[in-house]
Amino acid sequence: MRAGGSDPIREAARLLAERRNAVALTGAGISVESGIPSFRGAQGMWAKYDPMEYATLHAFMQHPRKVWEMLSEMVSVCGGAAPNAAHKGLAALEKLGVVRAVITQNVDGLHQAAGSRRVIEYHGNLDELICVYCWKRYLMRERWTPGAVPLCDCGEILKPNVVLFGESIPWLAQEQAEEEARTCGVLLVIGTSAQVSPACDIPGIAKDAGAAVVEINPEPTSLTASATDIHLRGSASDVIRHLLKELSPGDEASPSAPSGH
Ligand code: OAD
Repeated sequence: MRAGGSDPIREAARLLAERRNAVALTGAGISVESGIPSFRGAQGMWAKYDPMEYATLHAFMQHPRKVWEMLSEMVSVCGGAAPNAAHKGLAALEKLGVVRAVITQNVDGLHQAAGSRRVIEYHGNLDELICVYCWKRYLMRERWTPGAVPLCDCGEILKPNVVLFGESIPWLAQEQAEEEARTCGVLLVIGTSAQVSPACDIPGIAKDAGAAVVEINPEPTSLTASATDIHLRGSASDVIRHLLKELSPGDEASPSAPSGH
């Protein structure tokens, strides 16, 4: 923790309450408690699938069936996942007027499922498939079945509308994310190792524009010693539950209150 207050949760809650225009930047860590593996680390996707072989546009163009081995796993794991207390807590903070937008690197749709309304999907989402040859689009749920690669009417193998390495960030998402970062009072950085560009530049943009950076992560990251003002060390669900308690004391109906759901 690198802040003046003695209790970092209280200090972060005070900042959030005072400024009331926080933006969250989320990564795979927020969905770990929903059963979706993160990317880095011993249990991460990249320990099982080399990203250079499975997660680049070039790899998809060369060997789409091989890349679909990884994609199929992602689609079925994400399709069976439900939002956890951290996703629900962020949605509750939006309803309280504390958080005004979520920028997510995740493609699982769990922020929207939890009730967040202003979600910027920086790396796309798994709801849609696109043909990289004829550009026709389809809904994933209408075209994909487990064990098969989804085909376009033109006969080519479809690609999920997610950003693979070597692809650009969707321009509108990038514009919106940078605008949110430039104008927020607090940036909550939750469950990201901040190793992938350009998403990892967002905290610096916010910081340079005067925002406080509050990081929620059980581990330190490359941001912790550089951009982070307050590091709340713990799982996203625990920390957000505590923040909500500070910001709405006595609100037993809060979606993030421990309720067994
Ligand atoms: P990473 O897997 O790199 O990092 C996950 C972070 O979440 C780590 O810093 C963990 O310490 C933290 N973490 C783990 N469990 C947590 C919990 N319960 N609560 C809070 N934090 C927790 O995932 P990202 O940073 O999201 O992009 O990865 C960024 C991008 O790299 C992804 O969007 C994906 C990947 O390659 C593309 O594929 C283009």
